[in-house]
Amino acid sequence: MGFGVYQVPPEETAATVRTALEIGYRHIDGAQMYGNEAGVGQGIREAGLDRGQVFLTSKLNNGFHRPDDARRAFDTTLAELGTDYVDLFLIHWPLPTLYDGDFVSTWTTLEEFKADGRARSIGVSNFQIHHLQELARETATTPAVNQIEVHPYFTNDEVRAYGVEHDIATEGWSPIARGRVLGEPTVLRIARAAGVHPAQVVLRWHIERGDVVFPKSSQPQRMRENFEIFDFEITDEEIEALTALDRGEAGRQGPHPDSFDYLPD
Ligand SMILES: NC(=O)c1ccc[n+]([C@@H]2O[C@H](COP(=O)([O-])OP(=O)(O)OC[C@H]3O[C@@H](n4cnc5c(N)ncnc54)[C@H](OP(=O)(O)O)[C@@H]3O)[C@@H](O)[C@H]2O)c1
Repeated sequence: MGFGVYQVPPEETAATVRTALEIGYRHIDGAQMYGNEAGVGQGIREAGLDRGQVFLTSKLNNGFHRPDDARRAFDTTLAELGTDYVDLFLIHWPLPTLYDGDFVSTWTTLEEFKADGRARSIGVSNFQIHHLQELARETATTPAVNQIEVHPYFTNDEVRAYGVEHDIATEGWSPIARGRVLGEPTVLRIARAAGVHPAQVVLRWHIERGDVVFPKSSQPQRMRENFEIFDFEITDEEIEALTALDRGEAGRQGPHPDSFDYLPD
Protein backbone atom coordinates (compact mmCIF):
# COMPACT_ATOMS: atom_id res chain seq x y z
CA MET A 1 0.00 0.00 0.00
CA GLY A 2 1.67 3.19 -1.16
CA PHE A 3 1.11 6.77 -2.19
CA GLY A 4 1.44 8.03 -5.78
CA VAL A 5 2.71 11.50 -6.62
CA TYR A 6 1.74 11.84 -10.28
CA GLN A 7 0.19 15.29 -10.84
CA VAL A 8 1.23 16.58 -7.44
CA PRO A 9 2.57 20.06 -8.31
CA PRO A 10 6.31 20.36 -7.56
CA GLU A 11 5.80 23.23 -5.12
CA GLU A 12 3.30 21.17 -3.10
CA THR A 13 5.12 17.85 -3.23
CA ALA A 14 7.24 18.13 -0.08
CA ALA A 15 4.22 19.00 2.07
CA THR A 16 2.04 16.35 0.44
CA VAL A 17 4.64 13.61 0.89
CA ARG A 18 5.25 14.67 4.47
CA THR A 19 1.50 14.47 5.17
CA ALA A 20 1.31 11.02 3.54
CA LEU A 21 4.14 9.77 5.73
CA GLU A 22 2.54 11.27 8.84
CA ILE A 23 -0.68 9.41 7.99
CA GLY A 24 1.33 6.21 7.83
CA TYR A 25 2.19 5.55 4.20
CA ARG A 26 5.68 4.08 3.87
CA HIS A 27 5.85 3.61 0.10
CA ILE A 28 6.09 6.51 -2.35
CA ASP A 29 5.61 5.92 -6.07
CA GLY A 30 7.37 8.64 -8.04
CA ALA A 31 8.91 9.10 -11.47
CA GLN A 32 11.25 11.37 -13.36
CA MET A 33 8.33 12.29 -15.61
CA TYR A 34 6.35 13.74 -12.67
CA GLY A 35 8.90 16.54 -12.28
CA ASN A 36 8.66 16.57 -8.49
CA GLU A 37 11.48 14.31 -7.25
CA ALA A 38 13.19 17.09 -5.26
CA GLY A 39 9.93 17.57 -3.34
CA VAL A 40 9.64 13.84 -2.68
CA GLY A 41 13.12 13.79 -1.16
CA GLN A 42 12.43 16.92 0.87
CA GLY A 43 9.12 15.52 2.15
CA ILE A 44 10.81 12.35 3.39
CA ARG A 45 13.50 14.34 5.17
CA GLU A 46 10.94 16.73 6.70
CA ALA A 47 8.92 13.78 8.02
CA GLY A 48 11.97 12.92 10.11
CA LEU A 49 12.02 9.29 9.02
CA ASP A 50 15.14 7.29 8.36
CA ARG A 51 15.61 6.63 4.68
CA GLY A 52 15.34 2.90 5.39
CA GLN A 53 11.78 3.27 6.68
CA VAL A 54 10.45 4.40 3.30
CA PHE A 55 10.13 2.32 0.13
CA LEU A 56 10.92 4.73 -2.69
CA THR A 57 10.25 4.13 -6.38
CA SER A 58 11.30 6.14 -9.43
CA LYS A 59 10.94 5.51 -13.15
CA LEU A 60 13.10 6.24 -16.16
CA ASN A 61 11.64 8.99 -18.30
CA ASN A 62 10.78 8.23 -21.92
CA GLY A 63 13.50 10.42 -23.39
CA PHE A 64 16.31 8.52 -21.70
CA HIS A 65 16.13 4.94 -22.96
CA ARG A 66 19.58 4.95 -24.55
CA PRO A 67 22.08 3.50 -22.05
CA ASP A 68 24.20 6.65 -21.54
CA ASP A 69 21.10 8.80 -21.17
CA ALA A 70 19.64 6.32 -18.70
CA ARG A 71 22.83 6.41 -16.61
CA ARG A 72 22.80 10.21 -16.50
CA ALA A 73 19.09 10.34 -15.73
CA PHE A 74 19.49 7.86 -12.89
CA ASP A 75 22.30 9.96 -11.37
CA THR A 76 20.02 13.00 -11.58
CA THR A 77 17.16 11.16 -9.88
CA LEU A 78 19.34 10.19 -6.91
CA ALA A 79 20.64 13.77 -6.67
CA GLU A 80 17.13 15.26 -6.81
CA LEU A 81 15.78 12.81 -4.25
CA GLY A 82 18.83 13.44 -2.08
CA THR A 83 19.44 9.75 -1.49
CA ASP A 84 22.07 7.27 -2.55
CA TYR A 85 19.61 4.55 -3.55
CA VAL A 86 16.05 3.90 -4.62
CA ASP A 87 14.17 0.80 -3.56
CA LEU A 88 12.72 0.25 -7.01
CA PHE A 89 13.56 1.72 -10.41
CA LEU A 90 11.32 1.06 -13.41
CA ILE A 91 11.35 1.57 -17.15
CA HIS A 92 8.26 3.79 -17.29
CA TRP A 93 7.02 2.74 -20.76
CA PRO A 94 8.31 0.15 -23.26
CA LEU A 95 8.06 2.60 -26.23
CA PRO A 96 8.27 -0.21 -28.82
CA THR A 97 7.83 2.22 -31.73
CA LEU A 98 10.83 4.32 -30.61
CA TYR A 99 14.53 3.52 -30.17
CA ASP A 100 14.29 0.89 -32.97
CA GLY A 101 12.08 -1.12 -30.63
CA ASP A 102 15.04 -1.66 -28.31
CA PHE A 103 14.05 -1.69 -24.66
CA VAL A 104 16.41 -4.61 -23.99
CA SER A 105 19.54 -2.44 -23.79
CA THR A 106 17.58 -0.08 -21.51
CA TRP A 107 16.82 -3.03 -19.24
CA THR A 108 20.44 -4.21 -19.18
CA THR A 109 21.37 -0.66 -18.12
CA LEU A 110 18.95 -0.92 -15.19
CA GLU A 111 20.69 -4.21 -14.33
CA GLU A 112 23.85 -2.14 -13.78
CA PHE A 113 22.03 0.03 -11.22
CA LYS A 114 20.90 -3.07 -9.39
CA ALA A 115 24.38 -4.58 -9.49
CA ASP A 116 25.98 -1.46 -7.99
CA GLY A 117 23.30 -1.31 -5.27
CA ARG A 118 21.88 2.09 -6.18
CA ALA A 119 18.61 0.42 -7.17
CA ARG A 120 17.67 -2.23 -4.61
CA SER A 121 15.32 -3.73 -7.17
CA ILE A 122 14.39 -3.04 -10.79
CA GLY A 123 11.25 -3.50 -12.78
CA VAL A 124 9.13 -2.28 -15.65
CA SER A 125 5.90 -0.44 -16.18
CA ASN A 126 3.28 -0.73 -18.88
CA PHE A 127 4.86 -3.86 -20.31
CA GLN A 128 2.56 -6.18 -22.22
CA ILE A 129 3.11 -9.95 -22.16
CA HIS A 130 5.10 -9.92 -25.38
CA HIS A 131 7.42 -7.22 -24.00
CA LEU A 132 8.01 -9.33 -20.89
CA GLN A 133 8.64 -12.39 -23.04
CA GLU A 134 11.26 -10.49 -25.00
CA LEU A 135 13.07 -9.52 -21.80
CA ALA A 136 12.91 -13.15 -20.64
CA ARG A 137 14.43 -14.33 -23.93
CA GLU A 138 17.15 -11.69 -24.15
CA THR A 139 18.24 -10.97 -20.57
CA ALA A 140 19.10 -12.69 -17.30
CA THR A 141 17.03 -10.68 -14.82
CA THR A 142 13.29 -11.00 -14.29
CA PRO A 143 11.63 -7.67 -13.47
CA ALA A 144 10.60 -7.57 -9.80
CA VAL A 145 7.51 -5.60 -10.73
CA ASN A 146 5.32 -4.68 -13.68
CA GLN A 147 3.36 -1.51 -12.95
CA ILE A 148 0.27 -1.43 -15.17
CA GLU A 149 -3.13 0.19 -15.38
CA VAL A 150 -5.59 -1.80 -13.22
CA HIS A 151 -9.02 -0.86 -11.84
CA PRO A 152 -12.50 -2.41 -11.97
CA TYR A 153 -13.18 -1.07 -15.48
CA PHE A 154 -9.87 -2.49 -16.75
CA THR A 155 -8.81 -5.53 -14.72
CA ASN A 156 -5.87 -6.29 -17.04
CA ASP A 157 -6.05 -9.92 -15.92
CA GLU A 158 -3.98 -11.50 -18.70
CA VAL A 159 -0.93 -9.39 -17.95
CA ARG A 160 -1.50 -9.92 -14.21
CA ALA A 161 -1.67 -13.70 -14.72
CA TYR A 162 1.64 -13.67 -16.61
CA GLY A 163 3.10 -11.87 -13.59
CA VAL A 164 1.82 -14.51 -11.18
CA GLU A 165 3.28 -17.30 -13.35
CA HIS A 166 6.68 -15.62 -13.61
CA ASP A 167 7.06 -14.16 -10.13
CA ILE A 168 6.60 -10.56 -11.25
CA ALA A 169 4.57 -8.50 -8.75
CA THR A 170 1.77 -6.43 -10.27
CA GLU A 171 1.41 -2.82 -9.23
CA GLY A 172 -1.89 -1.30 -10.34
CA TRP A 173 -1.82 2.31 -11.43
CA SER A 174 -4.86 4.63 -11.43
CA PRO A 175 -6.39 2.19 -8.91
CA ILE A 176 -9.65 4.16 -8.66
CA ALA A 177 -9.51 5.16 -12.35
CA ARG A 178 -8.95 8.75 -11.21
CA GLY A 179 -12.32 8.69 -9.45
CA ARG A 180 -14.33 7.42 -12.44
CA VAL A 181 -15.33 4.12 -10.81
CA LEU A 182 -16.54 5.71 -7.60
CA GLY A 183 -20.09 6.41 -8.81
CA GLU A 184 -20.56 2.90 -10.18
CA PRO A 185 -23.73 1.33 -8.62
CA THR A 186 -21.97 -1.95 -7.71
CA VAL A 187 -19.22 -0.01 -5.93
CA LEU A 188 -21.77 2.16 -4.13
CA ARG A 189 -23.81 -0.88 -3.04
CA ILE A 190 -20.77 -2.65 -1.58
CA ALA A 191 -19.55 0.54 0.10
CA ARG A 192 -22.97 1.12 1.69
CA ALA A 193 -23.10 -2.47 2.97
CA ALA A 194 -19.64 -2.13 4.55
CA GLY A 195 -20.29 1.40 5.82
CA VAL A 196 -17.21 2.81 4.07
CA HIS A 197 -16.31 5.15 1.21
CA PRO A 198 -16.41 3.80 -2.39
CA ALA A 199 -12.67 4.44 -2.82
CA GLN A 200 -11.94 2.25 0.19
CA VAL A 201 -13.89 -0.65 -1.33
CA VAL A 202 -12.03 -0.40 -4.64
CA LEU A 203 -8.61 -0.15 -3.00
CA ARG A 204 -9.36 -3.14 -0.78
CA TRP A 205 -10.43 -5.09 -3.91
CA HIS A 206 -6.94 -4.53 -5.37
CA ILE A 207 -5.21 -5.71 -2.21
CA GLU A 208 -7.42 -8.80 -1.98
CA ARG A 209 -6.43 -9.64 -5.57
CA GLY A 210 -2.79 -9.42 -4.54
CA ASP A 211 -1.77 -6.21 -6.30
CA VAL A 212 0.24 -3.30 -4.95
CA VAL A 213 -1.53 0.09 -5.14
CA PHE A 214 -0.62 3.72 -4.48
CA PRO A 215 -3.61 6.02 -4.88
CA LYS A 216 -2.88 9.71 -5.36
CA SER A 217 -4.69 12.48 -3.54
CA SER A 218 -3.75 16.01 -2.63
CA GLN A 219 -6.42 16.14 0.07
CA PRO A 220 -5.39 14.94 3.55
CA GLN A 221 -8.88 13.61 4.33
CA ARG A 222 -8.83 11.42 1.20
CA MET A 223 -5.22 10.40 1.78
CA ARG A 224 -6.28 9.12 5.21
CA GLU A 225 -9.42 7.43 3.88
CA ASN A 226 -7.43 5.70 1.12
CA PHE A 227 -5.00 4.36 3.72
CA GLU A 228 -7.63 3.01 6.12
CA ILE A 229 -8.83 0.01 4.19
CA PHE A 230 -8.20 -2.93 6.46
CA ASP A 231 -10.83 -2.57 9.18
CA PHE A 232 -13.91 -3.73 7.25
CA GLU A 233 -14.99 -6.92 5.50
CA ILE A 234 -15.44 -7.50 1.79
CA THR A 235 -16.81 -10.88 0.67
CA ASP A 236 -15.61 -13.11 -2.17
CA GLU A 237 -18.90 -12.43 -4.00
CA GLU A 238 -18.30 -8.69 -3.72
CA ILE A 239 -14.76 -9.09 -5.03
CA GLU A 240 -16.14 -11.07 -8.00
CA ALA A 241 -18.84 -8.45 -8.62
CA LEU A 242 -16.19 -5.72 -8.80
CA THR A 243 -14.02 -7.82 -11.12
CA ALA A 244 -17.08 -8.36 -13.36
CA LEU A 245 -17.18 -4.60 -14.04
CA ASP A 246 -14.25 -5.14 -16.43
CA ARG A 247 -14.88 -3.61 -19.86
CA GLY A 248 -11.76 -5.01 -21.49
CA GLU A 249 -9.89 -2.62 -23.80
CA ALA A 250 -12.89 -0.24 -23.71
CA GLY A 251 -12.19 0.30 -20.02
CA ARG A 252 -8.59 1.37 -20.50
CA GLN A 253 -8.21 5.02 -19.51
CA GLY A 254 -4.53 5.58 -20.32
CA PRO A 255 -2.58 5.08 -23.54
CA HIS A 256 -1.95 1.65 -25.05
CA PRO A 257 1.59 0.44 -24.30
CA ASP A 258 2.06 -0.93 -27.85
CA SER A 259 1.61 2.50 -29.44
CA PHE A 260 2.42 5.06 -26.74
CA ASP A 261 5.33 7.17 -27.98
CA TYR A 262 5.24 10.33 -25.88
CA LEU A 263 8.59 12.03 -25.45
CA PRO A 264 8.67 14.88 -22.93
CA ASP A 265 10.30 18.17 -24.04
N1 LIG B 1 3.34 3.82 -14.50
C1 LIG B 1 2.48 4.62 -15.07
O1 LIG B 1 2.47 4.78 -16.30
C2 LIG B 1 1.49 5.37 -14.23
C3 LIG B 1 0.43 6.05 -14.82
C4 LIG B 1 -0.47 6.71 -14.00
C5 LIG B 1 -0.31 6.68 -12.62
N2 LIG B 1 0.76 6.03 -12.07
C6 LIG B 1 0.97 5.99 -10.61
O2 LIG B 1 -0.24 5.61 -9.97
C7 LIG B 1 -0.61 6.61 -9.02
C8 LIG B 1 -2.11 6.68 -8.89
O3 LIG B 1 -2.73 6.84 -10.15
P1 LIG B 1 -3.50 8.16 -10.61
O4 LIG B 1 -2.99 9.31 -9.86
O5 LIG B 1 -3.45 8.21 -12.09
O6 LIG B 1 -5.02 7.86 -10.27
P2 LIG B 1 -5.87 7.42 -9.00
O7 LIG B 1 -5.02 7.23 -7.80
O8 LIG B 1 -6.75 6.30 -9.45
O9 LIG B 1 -6.82 8.68 -8.79
C9 LIG B 1 -6.35 9.94 -8.41
C10 LIG B 1 -7.49 10.93 -8.56
O10 LIG B 1 -8.62 10.54 -7.76
C11 LIG B 1 -8.91 11.54 -6.79
N3 LIG B 1 -9.10 10.84 -5.49
C12 LIG B 1 -8.14 10.22 -4.75
N4 LIG B 1 -8.68 9.66 -3.67
C13 LIG B 1 -10.01 9.90 -3.71
C14 LIG B 1 -11.09 9.58 -2.85
N5 LIG B 1 -10.91 8.89 -1.73
N6 LIG B 1 -12.34 9.98 -3.23
C15 LIG B 1 -12.54 10.68 -4.36
N7 LIG B 1 -11.54 11.03 -5.22
C16 LIG B 1 -10.28 10.65 -4.88
C17 LIG B 1 -7.71 12.48 -6.75
O11 LIG B 1 -8.12 13.81 -6.57
P3 LIG B 1 -7.52 14.73 -5.34
O12 LIG B 1 -6.04 14.75 -5.48
O13 LIG B 1 -8.18 16.05 -5.56
O14 LIG B 1 -7.99 14.04 -4.08
C18 LIG B 1 -7.13 12.34 -8.16
O15 LIG B 1 -7.80 13.20 -9.06
C19 LIG B 1 0.04 7.88 -9.59
O16 LIG B 1 0.12 8.93 -8.65
C20 LIG B 1 1.37 7.34 -10.03
O17 LIG B 1 2.21 7.17 -8.92
C21 LIG B 1 1.65 5.37 -12.85
